[in-house]
Amino acid sequence: MSKAFDPRDRYFKRAKAEGYRARSAYKLREILGSRRLLRKGWTVLDLGCAPGGFLQVLAEHVGKGGNVVGVDKVPIRSLSDSRIKTLVKDVEDASLVDELMSLHSSYDAVISDMAPATTGSAATDVARSIRLVERTLEISEKILRPGGVIVAKVFMGQGFEELVADFKERFRAVRVVRPEATRKRSRECFLVATGHRP
Ligand SMILES: C[S@@+](CC[C@H](N)C(=O)[O-])C[C@H]1O[C@@H](n2cnc3c(N)ncnc32)[C@H](O)[C@@H]1O
Repeated sequence: MSKAFDPRDRYFKRAKAEGYRARSAYKLREILGSRRLLRKGWTVLDLGCAPGGFLQVLAEHVGKGGNVVGVDKVPIRSLSDSRIKTLVKDVEDASLVDELMSLHSSYDAVISDMAPATTGSAATDVARSIRLVERTLEISEKILRPGGVIVAKVFMGQGFEELVADFKERFRAVRVVRPEATRKRSRECFLVATGHRP
């Protein structure tokens, strides 16, 4: 029999103990840690950043000389870290790219943990998740430097293969990663794309 859903699982407890705002921090730590994807001094964009677990991990990875910009449609409680700037905005807002460019002329990496509000219909949730990743790609085409990196969460389902093919056209290497902290019954995985070819 499969284990019952436990919102306060060991990653939740570990996040509390280690001062991360969300258990999802461990997904990103696993993805970044094993692959040395980010470098010190980089400028990184985090889409869907609230409440801020990914922002904390990203700040650790870019170090003192780096910058992290977070965007979410809901407000983010300040992290009191001068490397982190946050914008409250829907990623579909047409003014977002200009606002991002006014902060930094280009970005070394774009991370997205965006997820749609779930509806109970898997097909609808998957379609909305794929749209959020397509929007991540649209934004990246404008701001991500050649050779840059994307890490984007997506729900697997209809349209996933086409999305991966789209990434493969624009990046030198694309991997599908399912971190250990992802809940067993979740449809989510992360696309990890390196070597942006604009
Ligand atoms: C799983 S949470 C992100 C958790 C975050 N990575 C962390 O570690 O704290 C997904 C976030 O995506 C955001 N989101 C969903 N659709 C969005 C959109 N269209 N524009 C901006 N943010 C969006 C939600 O508001 C939510 O905060």
